[in-house]
Amino acid sequence: MRKVKIFDTTLRDGEQTPGVNLNSQEKLEIALQLERLKVDVIEAGFPASSPGDFQSVKTIANSIKDSSITGLARAKESDIQSAWEALKQSAEPRIHVFIATSPIHMKYKLKLTPDQVIEQAVHSVKLAAQKFPHVQFSAEDASRSDWPFLVKVIDAVIDAGATVINLPDTVGYTMPSEISKLFDYIGHNVSQIDKAILSTHNHDDLGMGVANSLAAIQAGATQVECTVNGIGERAGNASLEEIAVALHIRSDYYQASSGIHLKELKRTSALVSRLSSMNVPGNKAVVGANAFAHESGIHQDGMLKHKETYEIITPELVGATSSAPLGKHSGRHAFKEKLSELGFNGSEEVLQHIFTAFKDLADKKKEVTEDDLYALMTDATDDR
Ligand code: KIV
Ligand code: ZN
Repeated sequence: MRKVKIFDTTLRDGEQTPGVNLNSQEKLEIALQLERLKVDVIEAGFPASSPGDFQSVKTIANSIKDSSITGLARAKESDIQSAWEALKQSAEPRIHVFIATSPIHMKYKLKLTPDQVIEQAVHSVKLAAQKFPHVQFSAEDASRSDWPFLVKVIDAVIDAGATVINLPDTVGYTMPSEISKLFDYIGHNVSQIDKAILSTHNHDDLGMGVANSLAAIQAGATQVECTVNGIGERAGNASLEEIAVALHIRSDYYQASSGIHLKELKRTSALVSRLSSMNVPGNKAVVGANAFAHESGIHQDGMLKHKETYEIITPELVGATSSAPLGKHSGRHAFKEKLSELGFNGSEEVLQHIFTAFKDLADKKKEVTEDDLYALMTDATDDR
């Protein structure tokens, strides 16, 4: 079973979500929870971006011991210096240097030729490697870059001292079969690839973030970058909880595992949701409020007979609880079970009477609560 490292960027890319602004205390609270979750690397921020971010990265770097802490830096001397000042006291100083490699970014954003990009990438990785024992290099917009050019860049930065090579799908453009081919190509064409960890980082613009991450893992990536609840720029990043649980539940398929403490997932999701003020949609995989709720009669009946009929992930696995909300789709079996949980021990005739009243009510209300059921039971007893 291959071990896949989880690189969490909730505090950096995740914080780039429009409207999200976490203060230092909130960031530390999230970092402590990420450490409990056992993520391998926490990207705590972008130290050169603001004095507040610098301070948060420094505080996290000095407080967290069981996860490695990193900070983002453009391929610029001043960014690398600022990252060093923020991270030098961490247990395992690590930097994440990036520069764009796609034709559109090089021409319009950087206004640099491909050769100049290689020169700047090599120069900054060399500089970073003089201070940091671990240097990650990201080829921004890798998925829209020319593949032979990427090979040239990667060989050059590994020579310069990069120990992790990350290939982001920055704008969420790629498809799973394409990213798979890209990782395969890089794995076979970069002569020194064995000297570095290959990493994947995917955005969700076309809803492919998690699928692309898993495809890249299958094609050789041994580090995956993601955020809690999938928060991040635009449509967000690949979601940590979905990747970790997919690797666990389908370990037969991926032959890979993360070291994530899955039981902490629900709590981590709730914390990030509360502090970022980003609600988790009810139908969100793994951590949504409905992820373990079974409403229809057929499903509730199946669940009462054998849980695996409709449940591939147990709620306990991720620290959640299951529920069978009673609504208009619920059947008699689940209804009877719920009533006996509430202490009902009347005859089948009374039960049928309450069930009919329940169906009438369920047509008018989205969910019938326990209070409603008590009221129906009382009415039925009074009627007799
Ligand atoms: O999406 C991206 O390209 C990034 C890089 C800075 C790694 O977030
Ligand atoms: Zn990103």
